Amino acid sequence: MFRNTLTLSISLLGLILALTATGAAAEEYFTIEDGKLERPTGYREWVYVGTPLTPNDLNDGKAAFPEFHNVYIDPDSWAHWKKTGEFREGTILVKELVAVGSKAAVSGNGYFQGDFVGLEATIKSKKHFASEPGNWAYYSFSTPDLKSLTETAEKFPAASCNSCHAGAAADDFVFTQYYPVLREGKATGADAVGGTQSDLVREE
Ligand code: HEC
Repeated sequence: MFRNTLTLSISLLGLILALTATGAAAEEYFTIEDGKLERPTGYREWVYVGTPLTPNDLNDGKAAFPEFHNVYIDPDSWAHWKKTGEFREGTILVKELVAVGSKAAVSGNGYFQGDFVGLEATIKSKKHFASEPGNWAYYSFSTPDLKSLTETAEKFPAASCNSCHAGAAADDFVFTQYYPVLREGKATGADAVGGTQSDLVREE
């Protein structure tokens, strides 16, 4: 009896060590069921990386996405990015669309964030998307009237999203050139504390 328990404990320990070593135990911050991605939640507690904005005013009133794009990365992928400068298996980036609200404030004229109006996400996973370019898949939970979000989303065909990302993004399909937090944190092997001169002073 004791012997059996001991053997079982040793086997379990071996399994846990094997899983840790292969990285198979790494946490996924998303759920895919029957090929559909469930709407991500919790991302406003992740790491915020930047906010691109393509306002209508600068695009003849016809910007494809006239909103602010607040972008977040899950915490485990952020830790991996700081260590290796790469996006790990299971990376998820969420892009929350926020309407341009007011265009004037006491500080001056400008673009100020209004209401949340949409949600998009991209996930890198060889396990789930072995045949997608770069193993990235792209999703949108936004609705045409921008007043609600869908519960689940199907991935887009590669031609709709992957191709533009593949050609123009600075790092592995991700537009890190527009995300200062990712740029500064890349492969530093250190915590991105901010408030340091090294973030500001560039070497010539
Ligand atoms: C014409 C090029 C182009 C196409 C097509 C495109 N994107 Fe993007 N995408 C961008 C750019 C540029 C950014 C970063 C700047 C911004 O948000 O405006 C971006 C950023 C993103 C991000 C934030 C993470 C990242 O990779 O930088 C997500 C999520 C995203 N796009 C989803 C989608 C989805 C979903 C589709 C397909 C329906 C799509 N994109 C198609 C150009 C494109």
